[in-house]
Amino acid sequence: MTKRTPIIAGNWKMHNTLAESAALIEALKTAGNKNNAEVIVAPSFTSLAKVAELAKGSHIQVACQDVHWEDKGAFTSAVSPVQAKDAGATHAILGHSERRSVFGDTDEILNKKVAAALRHGLTIIFCVGETLQEREANETIAVINGQLENGLKGYSAEDLKGMVIAYEPVWAIGTGKTATPEQAQEVHAAIRQFLADKYGKEYADATRILYGGSVKDSNVDEIMAQPDVDGALVGGQALLADKFARIINFN
Ligand code: 13P
Repeated sequence: MTKRTPIIAGNWKMHNTLAESAALIEALKTAGNKNNAEVIVAPSFTSLAKVAELAKGSHIQVACQDVHWEDKGAFTSAVSPVQAKDAGATHAILGHSERRSVFGDTDEILNKKVAAALRHGLTIIFCVGETLQEREANETIAVINGQLENGLKGYSAEDLKGMVIAYEPVWAIGTGKTATPEQAQEVHAAIRQFLADKYGKEYADATRILYGGSVKDSNVDEIMAQPDVDGALVGGQALLADKFARIINFN
């Protein structure tokens, strides 16, 4: 079985001024990393270049929270993968549930964004997750398999090498309600099975699957102890240097 390097990623969403972003990245640079995790932060676009500049030479990598599917053009307010990369992003979060539900990113749109990120060598953090209604209707695995199938359509294991999956149950995001470690493990195992069936066991074994949804300093240890949980995608507590530092240095 492949040993997978853990990933601890912070999604800053629509938070932080330039000064706040700078202070946070500076604090994280000295926060330690006892598990030798890959540490990633995803600032908003206004702070991306600044944070990337300040993170240079440290162990922290920088992601953008989305990209447009075109490289340039008349798309007022959008940011292209070329621009995100130019600003210093190495990773791109795609398909976050807030993008899906608030901004209407469909599987088809996400499939075009996947193409855009791949074209420019941005490592994709592809988010999937079910709503509470879908979970209660026992549709969780079917919904997630559909998101993976349609969002990643047309790409081979070779194309998607290094991609990261983030399982974020919609009902657990920003609600303080975390999936139990068993619930997370069950879905992570199903995602790994999907990857094995589609791209082969070697690909599935090597792929990091992150859990996101109310990850806190107080629950990260038990979540990270699950065999198929390879990391965390953190929202609220990623904005607090001391909390995020504890999450990076999970036990
Ligand atoms: P919270 O950690 O605030 O629940 O957010 C999770 C998330 O959406 C990370 O992308």
